[in-house]
Amino acid sequence: MAAHSDVQLDHYLSVATEAARAAGAILLDYAKSGFRIEHKNPVNLVTDADHAAEECVINHIRHEFPDHRVLAEERGQVDLTPSPYLWIIDPLDGTTNFAHGYPAYCVSIGLEREGRCVVGVIFDPTRQELFDARIGGGAKLNGHPIHVSSTGILDQALLVTGFAYDIRETEHNNLDHFVRFALKAQGIRRTGSAALDLCYVAAGRFDGFWEVKLNPWDMAAGSIVLREAGGQITDFGGREHSIYGQELDASNGHIHQAMIQVLEMEAS
Ligand code: IPD
Ligand code: CA
Ligand code: CA
Repeated sequence: MAAHSDVQLDHYLSVATEAARAAGAILLDYAKSGFRIEHKNPVNLVTDADHAAEECVINHIRHEFPDHRVLAEERGQVDLTPSPYLWIIDPLDGTTNFAHGYPAYCVSIGLEREGRCVVGVIFDPTRQELFDARIGGGAKLNGHPIHVSSTGILDQALLVTGFAYDIRETEHNNLDHFVRFALKAQGIRRTGSAALDLCYVAAGRFDGFWEVKLNPWDMAAGSIVLREAGGQITDFGGREHSIYGQELDASNGHIHQAMIQVLEMEAS
């Protein structure tokens, strides 16, 4: 018997959607009226908008599903009930963008069961774009089905990546991959929101996305949106991707092997 019915999945999706829209409205309010910034390290910021949006999402989830577990970026693991369901929340993915008034950020909410996301919702409040997916139901943007691109070669691919906040402290900082891809792809972007990067691959706006050292809340919702849009997501060796892992290679599937070849090249 399936672990969850379509009716249950639709319910999870509608609660996540409501929560993401409400939190997105909070982010826009803070963007308009001002916010306080704190530094987790010189390049890693958090604002009171992150905290307010997170509280909003957690309240929505707990109200509807008091026995589910919650993992939220700023608060960590909120409770330790034995439920198989874990809500994974990034209340503001793209905090640096938000803090600078650069309109590329979102609320990301995923529901994980047995290591895999079964529902994902990502809301970009500045563009009013809502990406969502539930397992077996396809991926959508504002209610319309989306699909990955058909770009078949790296030479014609628009890729996207990002860099972790320890970029100044380690050599394992993705700059080597960046240099190699810059010489092989048609173009590379760095948007500053991993959740949106995954959705943009899902929607065919990018052909591929790789990054190292993302956190589960960066990838949870986006991973199911991408899969349901027909994309492929693995680690750098082409093995099964885990939202708790260190490596992410996400693509339209057609250029996946070519991306892995570049990711597996030793730094010279
Ligand atoms: C960050 C963004 C960024 C990625 C970083 C993340 P945050 O999340 O997703 O694109 O490159 O690794 O930490 O801090 O804005 O929620
Ligand atoms: Ca994030
Ligand atoms: Ca965040």
